[in-house]
Amino acid sequence: MAIRNLRFGGDAILTKTSKEVKEITPKVKELIDDMLETMYEANGVGLAAVQVGVLKRIVVIDVGEGPVVMINPQVIKTEGTQTGDEGCLSVPGKAGQVTRPMKATVRYTGEDGAEYELEGEELLARAICHECDHLDGKLYLDLVEGELHDTTYEEEEEEEA
Ligand code: NI
Repeated sequence: MAIRNLRFGGDAILTKTSKEVKEITPKVKELIDDMLETMYEANGVGLAAVQVGVLKRIVVIDVGEGPVVMINPQVIKTEGTQTGDEGCLSVPGKAGQVTRPMKATVRYTGEDGAEYELEGEELLARAICHECDHLDGKLYLDLVEGELHDTTYEEEEEEEA
């Protein structure tokens, strides 16, 4: 496992669409391990492969309930709305108000190659939507209502994705 370099806002790769993963190779597994290590080291709750410079449709999320690895994730259902602070490891030290679904159901391939569905609520729903947006080259900055503000370390720990 290794910590990879994060890509930051303004880096053109963050606006690109990531490609579907066709086969879970040892290289893909190594990337996933590195993404998890990089996310935890940065105190994030989620990370998309593009954020470490790899245009593959892979997301890792841990909102405090253990790691979830999602390959080729697709949000298939959403319900309700929530408005709250959101941050991103690619935009360090900042947060802004974003409205997201209160619940989001995502279908994805696990690291074991099996198909899964997961319904997330609150922070997990927010993280799922935020990370899936990364795979389509979208940053939360485009959704922010009002101004960005500086975050404290504790807030980053909970909200940066
Ligand atoms: Ni992000």
